[in-house]
Amino acid sequence: MENPVEEIKKRLDIIEFIGSFITLKKAGRNFKAVCPFHQEKTPSFIVSPERQIWHCFGACGEGGDVIRFLMKWENITFIEALRELAKKTGVVLRKVSFEDRLWKKRERFFNMNFLATEFFQYVLNKTRFGKKGLDYLNSREVNSSIAKKFQLGYAPDSWDSLKSFLKRKKFAEEEILENGLIIKGESGRYYDRFRGRLIFPLKDARNNVIAFSGRTLDENAKEAKYINSPETAIYHKRETLFGINLARESIKKENNVYLVEGEFDIITPYSHGFNNFVAIKGSALTSEQLMLLKRYTDRITLFLDADTAGEEAVKRGIDEAERFDFDIRVVSLDFAKDPDEAIKKDLKSFKKVLEKPVAIYDYLINLAKKRYPSDSAFDKKKIGDEIIPYLEKISNPIVRSHYVKKLAKLLLVTEGSIENLITKLKRKKKILASYKPIVSHQPKEARELVIEKYLLSCLFQEEDNKQLFKKIFSVLTAGDFYLPADQKIIRQYVEFKNLKKDSLKINNFINQLAAELKPIFDEVYLYASIEEKLNEESLEKVIYEIKTFSLKRQMKKILLEEEENPDKNKQLISLNQALKEVEKKLVSL
Ligand code: CTP
Ligand code: MN
Repeated sequence: MENPVEEIKKRLDIIEFIGSFITLKKAGRNFKAVCPFHQEKTPSFIVSPERQIWHCFGACGEGGDVIRFLMKWENITFIEALRELAKKTGVVLRKVSFEDRLWKKRERFFNMNFLATEFFQYVLNKTRFGKKGLDYLNSREVNSSIAKKFQLGYAPDSWDSLKSFLKRKKFAEEEILENGLIIKGESGRYYDRFRGRLIFPLKDARNNVIAFSGRTLDENAKEAKYINSPETAIYHKRETLFGINLARESIKKENNVYLVEGEFDIITPYSHGFNNFVAIKGSALTSEQLMLLKRYTDRITLFLDADTAGEEAVKRGIDEAERFDFDIRVVSLDFAKDPDEAIKKDLKSFKKVLEKPVAIYDYLINLAKKRYPSDSAFDKKKIGDEIIPYLEKISNPIVRSHYVKKLAKLLLVTEGSIENLITKLKRKKKILASYKPIVSHQPKEARELVIEKYLLSCLFQEEDNKQLFKKIFSVLTAGDFYLPADQKIIRQYVEFKNLKKDSLKINNFINQLAAELKPIFDEVYLYASIEEKLNEESLEKVIYEIKTFSLKRQMKKILLEEEENPDKNKQLISLNQALKEVEKKLVSL
């Protein structure tokens, strides 16, 4: 086998492969989807079965092959993706020919965490130091099989037992430090971060241990109740959901996920058969977490602690979740502080709570009504002030109108007056936005670029493009195109067509394209699948439009020339003449 990368790609069909992660919809010759790598509602993610590539024309602008897709999807390095796909396809990787330092580091950190997990588990279950931990688990009704499932452990109350263990396993202090398991003291000595604590390994969706969290066993301790690993090369708090490794299948199956606060709010429900719970560990829900969840479900149920901090978290979560188009619900407890406590106190009532989720906007309205209960004009205004900003953000018109009605009824005002307030707010936001500098990942592309890519895309995607080829190049030359890279591609393409009159296969052309032009070609190739607006425009019009842009550019260039050019005027006159003719032609089309 000469090239394992090519062999893997040969054995996998990109449509089938990507289609196993996200839903692909046929769009002409290609497939379309909502991009899984950034937030968007209209699909700009295109996959080509012929080219076996994908590209996102939205904000992220990413693209590539199956390996690149898996790298992005799992947030792993090239080598990691290659290994996984090699295993899947049965391709043997004898020796990876190049070093990937980042991969090595990540691999070592995963390994270190794996060993540390075993160490903590051993201390908990097999040594006399672990007794405190076992007693504590007992007091919280966590049995040994559940403890095993979550790989819970105990960090002994010692300054360096983990450090010594890992050093014996040939890890250097510097890397143990970088992976967050030890801390450098003021004197320059290293000591264990987790001491005398119950240990929860934090895992990613693929079961890698990426970090740890440790709970004190001493309720009166001065230190924090929980401490966590710092951010590392493999641990990004914003992307982490405690329990996702165990919950992901069940989230998919139930098409719902319960978002809770803490470790025990996962473990206790899990031991009672509630398997689609994940924890945000006491912080606000992030867009990274929502992106991860969107892979498994489009419904989330917020199950937050019964304090006002929980309410705030709900509110902060809405903005993000609405942007991801989640169906958001809320369940709340009135007889216990959190899910862990609720299950132990009264399992029946807990189940009842789960059965009665409230849609997020109903929840918000109820909350406001509780806070401003009277019928006074003042209280009504307060409720309106609080709720309308949320209603303004609802993108679905049916859902919005439902809540406008509901709020109008509650406040005994007309729907029109609520709609008015929403419109006013929208206008205000628009004005505010117009004062802000435009900071967008995706600047609106100039028309001259858009039509150029579109035309080329149509040309390359058409199987038998003899007609179109003739049409284009009877009016345009490579020099008429704006981007130098497009010009290069066109020159080579024209040459290719002239040489091999019967070989129409586009893949033959791509194979001989210079490596640096290939990604540009891929993007151009897929472009027509996304620019649907242009589909109705006649290609002939587009061809002449490109010509006008080209002529104008040429004129501008001459006008800006510094040095004296005796032919300047003559050239300008003839360009202007040509421009007039093209414009006349355009009007007639
Ligand atoms: N947390 C944390 N660091 C802290 C406090 C809390 O990381 N210093 C996280 C933990 O994941 C914790 C969650 O925030 O589970 C919620 O905190 P809290 O409500 O205070 O604790 P409980 O989840 O009720 O913890 P327990 O049941 O163990 O008492
Ligand atoms: Mn708790």
